[in-house]
Amino acid sequence: MQDKISMGMNRTGLKTSPLLADELLEQLDLQADAPAPAIDADALRRAYREDAEPVGSVPPPTSIKGMFGAAVEALGGHRMHVLLDKLGERAAYERSGVRIYEAMLRKLDGAEDLPPGLTEAALREIRDDEASHFALLCDAIERLGGDSTTQTPCADITGVQALGLVQVMNDPRTTTAQALETLLAVERIDTASWELLVSLMDGFGQEELANEFSRAHVRELEHEERVRGWFTAAIHQRALGDSKAKAG
Ligand SMILES: [Fe+2]
Repeated sequence: MQDKISMGMNRTGLKTSPLLADELLEQLDLQADAPAPAIDADALRRAYREDAEPVGSVPPPTSIKGMFGAAVEALGGHRMHVLLDKLGERAAYERSGVRIYEAMLRKLDGAEDLPPGLTEAALREIRDDEASHFALLCDAIERLGGDSTTQTPCADITGVQALGLVQVMNDPRTTTAQALETLLAVERIDTASWELLVSLMDGFGQEELANEFSRAHVRELEHEERVRGWFTAAIHQRALGDSKAKAG
């Protein structure tokens, strides 16, 4: 696939038609002077917020060990359900990450002018990391007495957030560079989230899990760095010519 972005007959800008643009701006001025609408949108939103139920809940621990651990943590002011919610979120995200890298692998099929270092093998390596991080999170949830098959509230939210990312990755029209920019967004969220999880594990005194999570965080930082390199090189290739493209 070649980079499909080129100059063409895009008519979305105001300067395409100065005459019609003036007419449009006049209409906007008229609207600004118009009386306020009968429905107060802010009041309506406030009413919805006041009536809204939370997005799901976290179930109680499923094992005796988990119940005991939650009780002990509660005595210390720690809330195990908050931790389990964040672990559930990351597990859902890493599972989506595997699918997003699968989509990137499909996009690479037949692609031309790839930035240096962007290979199927490199993408598979990252995809496999995401899969192993998913397994690590499931294991951690179970070790803490939770149920790794639960869709927690934050897992639900992260799924909704990722909808646009997944959509861009699977859109047949999107270019390699656009897909790489999407991956960069994915990886930046990943690194920040793993950093948070490491600090939470420290806070809960889970030394072993904190160490395992630290290793995952380091891998995620490497992903971010590689994807950023590929993305920058892809845009440099297009905008500045091959000579400026650096290996990712
Ligand atoms: Fe990653």
